[in-house]
Amino acid sequence: MTRLSSLNQGRPPAASETAHQQCIRPACGAAYELKNVHQRCAKCGALLDVLYDWERLPVPDGLALFDERRASSRDPLDYSGVWRFRELLPFAEPDKVLTIGEGQTQLRRTDGVAAYIGLDPARLFLQYEGLNPSGSFKDNGMTGAFTHANMVGARYAACASTGNTSASLALFAGVSGLLKAVVFVGSGKIAYGKLSQALDYGATTLQIAGDFDDAMRQVQEVCLQTNLYLMNSLNPFRLEGQKAIMYRVLEGLRWEPPDWIVVPGGNLGNSSAFGKAFIELKQLGLIRRIPRVAIINSTGARTLSALVNERGLKWNAGEVNDGLINAYYAELDEKGIRAHTIASAIEINRPVNLKKALRTLEVSDGVVREVPDEAILDAKAQVGAAGIGCEPASAASVAGARLLRREGLIGPSDVVACILTGHQLKDPNATVAYHAATPEELERSLGSYGVHATQFRNQPIRVKNDLGEILKVISD
Ligand code: F0G
Repeated sequence: MTRLSSLNQGRPPAASETAHQQCIRPACGAAYELKNVHQRCAKCGALLDVLYDWERLPVPDGLALFDERRASSRDPLDYSGVWRFRELLPFAEPDKVLTIGEGQTQLRRTDGVAAYIGLDPARLFLQYEGLNPSGSFKDNGMTGAFTHANMVGARYAACASTGNTSASLALFAGVSGLLKAVVFVGSGKIAYGKLSQALDYGATTLQIAGDFDDAMRQVQEVCLQTNLYLMNSLNPFRLEGQKAIMYRVLEGLRWEPPDWIVVPGGNLGNSSAFGKAFIELKQLGLIRRIPRVAIINSTGARTLSALVNERGLKWNAGEVNDGLINAYYAELDEKGIRAHTIASAIEINRPVNLKKALRTLEVSDGVVREVPDEAILDAKAQVGAAGIGCEPASAASVAGARLLRREGLIGPSDVVACILTGHQLKDPNATVAYHAATPEELERSLGSYGVHATQFRNQPIRVKNDLGEILKVISD
């Protein structure tokens, strides 16, 4: 491969010559040009990757280049927390990139939460993706997908969403004016704050009588039958952008990989993207070791956990056993089981990126765990007490790290990075119910999620409109 230091003269080859889309199944390997739009492999129906001809691309000697860009970020590409790593997702010409300044996020050392998990001080880092412009990690992916949509001249785009994807799509559409956004949400299944974003940013919003899995199925079909461009994480260009979350975690750790990455698992886009990021960094000689990736389900939406831990589903060199998956889904249908968790962003029973996530587990010696909603909300309160507001789904990562620590799989001195995928302002009802509800109210609002006790609640104190009373309460 060409190293950047030896490549200051001459134009690098066009992205269309050095990047393409390819079926994730090595046994199929069908390849497609960048300019084509496919939801899946046209030959065998499997998922697609974006792959690069690294031999012909300028690759940095080391990772310091990215730090330099961070320090002088007048160029919008350098300012972006995704595109400053552009040599690691080189599918677009710079003038096609659509960025809104996404990825200005932080990796925070959080010793209080480390103690809660059972880790030594300076061992836990929280990657706070809630700081993105639309309030979640989705903006990392959306800049990738919008850039590709720009490359292929898309005029309309759609997604299914429990809130964050729709907010992100609507925001990018509003800022760029590139295309019209259509969002599919399950009726009553979208958090209000997120619905308000989609509406305010001008997206056409379809409320489907069903849940996320229903909306996801419909949007795929609609995109196939129309010219709508699909913005869900099935889109491999979205996952290219989401690789940058790992680059920033590594950057925050001075390019020394942690022992563990812990991430909530819903549609399994992040976990898939993270695995690909590590495969490539290792292949490029930019890291020597791949961290173990732990994917955390809620017990109310446990497809990956059930398939991997109970039924032995594996990547198997790309030849995943579809029989096991289909039998599991048939069982869910027979028993009328629907995903049900307070962590709305991971309330998904049919994750579209399942197979790519299996690949991540394989390459990272990863594990899958599931945590109940009560543990998720307790973990969220601990994260909140450390001054970081995240939504319930995000806190699944912290609850999962705690479980793995208790199992002894994570050691006390392991370096752990938990991904906090979204901002606290999603699902605020759950937060307020956790802290403020009377026992009866708690039962009514969170009882059906198995949340019956709130260990770390911070109840508001009722006081009369009277100075004496107020002073008395404060001094107590
Ligand atoms: N965390 C947050 C905050 C999310 O919004 C999502 C997905 C996930 C985790 C799950 O991530 O799919 O990469 O495993 N939200 C989708 C949405 C469903 O519509 O916004 P994944």
